[in-house]
Amino acid sequence: MRKILIAGNWKMNQGPEETAHFFEEFSKIRKEPLKKADGAVCPPYVSLNEAKKGADKVEGIRIGAQNLYFEDSGAYTGEVSAAMLKETGCTYVITGHSERRSLFGESDSDIRKKNLKALEHALTPITCVGEVLKERKADRHYDVVREQITGVFEGFDPQQVNSCIIAYEPVWAIGTGETATPQQAQEMHAFIRDLIKEHFGANVAEEIRILYGGSMKPDNAGELVSQPDVDGGLVGGASLKPNGFHELLKIAEKQSG
Ligand code: PGA
Repeated sequence: MRKILIAGNWKMNQGPEETAHFFEEFSKIRKEPLKKADGAVCPPYVSLNEAKKGADKVEGIRIGAQNLYFEDSGAYTGEVSAAMLKETGCTYVITGHSERRSLFGESDSDIRKKNLKALEHALTPITCVGEVLKERKADRHYDVVREQITGVFEGFDPQQVNSCIIAYEPVWAIGTGETATPQQAQEMHAFIRDLIKEHFGANVAEEIRILYGGSMKPDNAGELVSQPDVDGGLVGGASLKPNGFHELLKIAEKQSG
């Protein structure tokens, strides 16, 4: 049984003070531990410490980073290593987000190296894939996602893939308010699961969690996570407020029975 995960991707929002405030408010709303679903917040690096303090007060909520570098240490100004994230209490790290691919030139090969380094330090990568609008309109979305998945996981053994989470984020749905329909999400998630089965076997395909991302909010999350191959969400805007995050977690728990 795959446990639903709602992971908040805060992007470049909420510094340490706002993060502390978020958890102050959140702990007033959310009193019971999360039992049936998993929750995570991925704030900017500088807010990870505050997030960890806050998350530790609500059982079932963990923290993650939004990026890492694939070297251990050294002259890489501005970068942060997997070991540092682990030391800060991270469980997850987002890799290959479309904003990193398009604004910072990250390639599948970079993302592959980042995933390997994360796994070496027992961090769970949440690896993003997804097509831009032009590619969907040209009916190339399956090809694009196939290329990303095979590029990022090239040479991985099944166990390594099983220790990752994939997030399907159609770029045209990110921050636009235009969500993929539950059918569009389900079709792509099933396609990704089939690809994983083809390359890494049926067991990994059955167990790996595939999240949906792109304008997920309390209004549409129920229908999305009720799709058989949608195992949760990577949520930007709607995860920034304690109430919205709490609503999403409630939906995830309800869906998990
Ligand atoms: P959004 O962002 O929920 O604001 O569309 C999702 C993401 O980019 O991970």
